[in-house]
Amino acid sequence: VALFVNASEAKEISKTMFGIFFEEINHAGAGGLWAELVSNRGFEAGGSTTPSNIDPWSIIGDESSLIVSTERSSCFDRNQIALRMEVLCSHDGPKTCPAGGVGIFNPGFWGMNIELGKTYKLVLYVRASQSINVSASLIGSVGLKTLATANIIASDVSNWTKMEVLMQAKGTDPSSRLQLTTTRKGVIWFDQVSLMPVDTYKGHGFRNDLFKMLKELSPGFIRFPGGCFVEGDWLRNAFRWKETIGPWEERPGHFGDVWKYWTDEGLGHFEFLQLAEDLGALPIWVFNNGISHHDHVDPSALLPFVQEILDGIEFARGSSQSKWGSVRASMGHPEPFDLRYVAVGNEDCDREGYLGSYLKFYDAITHAYPDIKIISNCDGSSELLKHPAHYYDYHIYNNANTVFRSATKFDRAPRGGPKAFVSEYAVNGDDAGKGSLVAALAEAGFLIGLERNCDVVEMASYAPLFVNENNRDWNPDAIVFDSSKVYGTPSYWMQHFFKESNGATLLNSTLQTGVESFLIASAVTWKNTEDNDKYLRIKVVNSGRNSVTLQISIDGLELNSIRSQGSIKTELTSSDYKDENSFEHPNKIVPVKSPLEDVAEEMDIVLSPRSLTSIDLPI
Ligand code: AHR
Repeated sequence: VALFVNASEAKEISKTMFGIFFEEINHAGAGGLWAELVSNRGFEAGGSTTPSNIDPWSIIGDESSLIVSTERSSCFDRNQIALRMEVLCSHDGPKTCPAGGVGIFNPGFWGMNIELGKTYKLVLYVRASQSINVSASLIGSVGLKTLATANIIASDVSNWTKMEVLMQAKGTDPSSRLQLTTTRKGVIWFDQVSLMPVDTYKGHGFRNDLFKMLKELSPGFIRFPGGCFVEGDWLRNAFRWKETIGPWEERPGHFGDVWKYWTDEGLGHFEFLQLAEDLGALPIWVFNNGISHHDHVDPSALLPFVQEILDGIEFARGSSQSKWGSVRASMGHPEPFDLRYVAVGNEDCDREGYLGSYLKFYDAITHAYPDIKIISNCDGSSELLKHPAHYYDYHIYNNANTVFRSATKFDRAPRGGPKAFVSEYAVNGDDAGKGSLVAALAEAGFLIGLERNCDVVEMASYAPLFVNENNRDWNPDAIVFDSSKVYGTPSYWMQHFFKESNGATLLNSTLQTGVESFLIASAVTWKNTEDNDKYLRIKVVNSGRNSVTLQISIDGLELNSIRSQGSIKTELTSSDYKDENSFEHPNKIVPVKSPLEDVAEEMDIVLSPRSLTSIDLPI
């Protein structure tokens, strides 16, 4: 089998070719990347009618010592539910409280990860007609050991009062909980109880280990805040950016009815833009276009929706003197964020009213922000779109064979019109399990096909990005985590082979296989920004079950003989195509690097069965 690389024909790959797509699905954000440890911190998750469900908060004590209920008595207008706790016992009788007191506890999102020596900031709002003495403690799951404790004491909290306390852990337990208990008789109201580790990425609230996984992908862009999450099953449950900004305690939160969980929206419009900036990725905001899965806004009533989006763009990139830019500035970011792309809805092209609504958004946005690039939901890969757009969105979820064969999908795409944004791709179904090698190889083949079509494809992202192991609503996903651990699936590691392609140059390369091809390859030149050295990278997927000796022949490019000892081969493979990573074996399938000897313009390399291989040759 031979691969001919010819450097005389080259195409530029966009700087944003490979990025990431963040969706609030599988508790990716709430109980995931967003480091808040309290679940349902404002007691709003049960809805606004009272009595309300306070799940997952639980009560410590019985009816003879404590009555817990909810009331619409909060000091926050947009999230009015507060918790009322009537303590019937006391430390000195007549009804004596149990040792340790009575109160409530929150288990977080399937356990809070409390770590020895780390500091946690507890913030809560409290009101009571008497003085209070509340014990806040972090309790481990093993033997209910107290890992940290603090006393919240106040003589006058007759008006809602914000209390803050730092708690340092003297032990580690990934399944801890936060308890608020007292032995003082009387009524206490609580609201907006937050516990965050002090140590988050740059203090921006992102869980460090999960942020690192994203950063190490060097994403060119980040699409957010979701796909179906943006639409909602019903419009009343769609993501509305204005409800997600400003002080966290004032945000109403909302029930994401597609993925069926509540989010307190600590991770809101501002935080997504901040995340993009922290990752060095361009933000791509997918907004709700007045269409959900089951209802839509009448086109005659669309104007407020269009204005909402114009305001959201102004929030992101308007000057700090502008109405919404000043709100952003008040949140600590006076400089505009670099918002250049927006997507009008998600997977809505065939839904009633899409085109009419799309054009209204398109006209208003291009009028107000002529440089903003607009992404249509309609597929332009078979024929040119009949409406104006800068990009068209393309999604593919299928079995491994179909995804691998779809590498040629864009060979036939029309040239000269809007370019493709492959904003969701993945192998799913039986082939993929919870993230298998064969899925990753097929996706790698597909991405090589996108590289080869970089004149018409400008962006691509895998979906979904994250899964909290305790809420696997969608399989597979790129990054798996629980309260304390994280690992990448083979599909995550596969993406590492493509990160240097952003802004690289694609060279012409031809595979000569002689049989029906289970191989696919590309060749790019790229510059290492750390040492400024240039490399030729050849990537090959061997999806077959036998090893292959590949005869490489490079034309029109001189390898750097002085630096040739810097040549590296990187391989992603395993003994079985269904192999997966897991918490027990997180590194079973990860890229393995080895030095490459005998480098020359004509050379052989051996491709392992079922492997993705890249070779980097200094030029
Ligand atoms: O990635 C999971 C879902 O798949 C997205 O929400 C949606 O856009 C697609 O159908």
